Amino acid sequence: MKKSNRIQRYSAPERINHWIVAFCFVFAAVSGLGFLFPSLNWLLHILGTPQLARILHPFVGVVMFVAFLLMFLRYWKHNLIQRDDIEWAKNIHKIARNQEVGDTGRYNFGQKCVFWLAIICLVLLLASGVVMWRPYFAPAFPIPVIRLALLVHSLAAVGLILVIMVHVYAALWVKGTITAMVEGWVPAAWAKKHHPRWYREIQRKQQEKQP
Ligand code: HEM
Repeated sequence: MKKSNRIQRYSAPERINHWIVAFCFVFAAVSGLGFLFPSLNWLLHILGTPQLARILHPFVGVVMFVAFLLMFLRYWKHNLIQRDDIEWAKNIHKIARNQEVGDTGRYNFGQKCVFWLAIICLVLLLASGVVMWRPYFAPAFPIPVIRLALLVHSLAAVGLILVIMVHVYAALWVKGTITAMVEGWVPAAWAKKHHPRWYREIQRKQQEKQP
């Protein structure tokens, strides 16, 4: 595609940040499911050994949290819910038929929901994970608190896995989206169709730059 028909959506550091989160998520989710369900214990062997997975899981979880926090600080302003989002949500059946609704900015309502649910799940995962992290922190907490932490950790993990399944499905389903996070750019036609307000902002900034 010609450079004039593309729009930059993510810089290289932003993409590296995102893929660190995604890699950590896959490792933490696969090992976590391996710990949680006896029928999935075999998953632990594809990560080396169960012992290695057990040691690495909490460290990888902390890296995921810190990396996501950087994304959170970058994007939270773009993910604030606005009036157009309500219209988008009310017309979700049209979105499912690949029609656009409302004057969507950089992110649509579905993406915003993924964003806020992800940070809620990650905060719960970190807080409960620290409480049950043997041998470092768990000895400082009474057994009933550790049991509660185990429950919260499992529920938040299942929640995050479901949220990310929706995120990945949308990223692959909406044609033209995946290049945003792989190569950093999107087709101008994609931006105009799915994020018209963001497209106009970019056009205005480009015109302001021109002498
Ligand atoms: C594992 C496979 C993943 C794929 C294929 C994927 C794909 C993508 C793509 C294509 C975008 C750009 C969307 C756009 O700009 O419109 C994106 C953005 C984003 N992704 Fe992912 N992603 C994955 C995993 C994750 C994970 C695990 C998280 C967080 C726990 C995450 C959080 C985000 C966030 C926060 C954004 C920016 C959108 C926003 O702020 O609403 N992604 N992803």
